[in-house]
Amino acid sequence: MDWLVELSASMGSVQRSTPLIATLATVDFLGRPRARSVVCRRIDEDDGSVWIASDARSEKNEHVREHKQAELVIWLPQPREQFRLFGNMTVLDLRDQTARRRQLWEDLSDAARAMFFWPTPGRPLESGADAFPKEMPAGEGPPESFEVLVLHPTQVERLQLQPHPHQRTRWRAERDWKAEPLNP
Ligand SMILES: Cc1cc2nc3c(=O)[nH]c(=O)nc-3n(C[C@H](O)[C@H](O)[C@H](O)COP(=O)(O)O)c2cc1C
Repeated sequence: MDWLVELSASMGSVQRSTPLIATLATVDFLGRPRARSVVCRRIDEDDGSVWIASDARSEKNEHVREHKQAELVIWLPQPREQFRLFGNMTVLDLRDQTARRRQLWEDLSDAARAMFFWPTPGRPLESGADAFPKEMPAGEGPPESFEVLVLHPTQVERLQLQPHPHQRTRWRAERDWKAEPLNP
């Protein structure tokens, strides 16, 4: 897929050492947009799916169980490019029989793993700091709260701010991922 080649080139590599932060937009039960920052833990080099670790009890996970459509926006300050990835989300939960969820769990830092043992995200704060462990080794395996949101892009747009005029390109699965130049 051309867009994945372009994204890899713009990022330097899809497997980077610094975390790739993106904005994930989902739709809530009333059809309202909600957006928040997430870490892209993995971008599959075969199908371009983007993997995000997220708490099963969080709002975004509840949203995507109901409304599968989501958009992820990546801003790359160097080379001043935005990528918008639109598509359907699947959720790797406790029922995932493959090793994929466990592998991602083992790849997390101890500090990132610990957050899945914190009290329910978004609820009123009622516990002291003791309820929020700082670190958690990989141990036995992921708890029920650990889920992986996997975005399967069907449309990708890139906006390049460096050239004049800016360049905007769209790729759509339904058009065999052929690059379509658009007005910026
Ligand atoms: C830089 C940054 C990275 C973040 N990465 C993640 C992440 O990978 N997964 C996640 O669930 N939340 C992440 N968060 C927290 C979310 O932005 C959000 O506050 C939290 O997931 C609750 O969102 P929700 O109630 O919409 O589900 C991150 C926040 C920041 C500031």
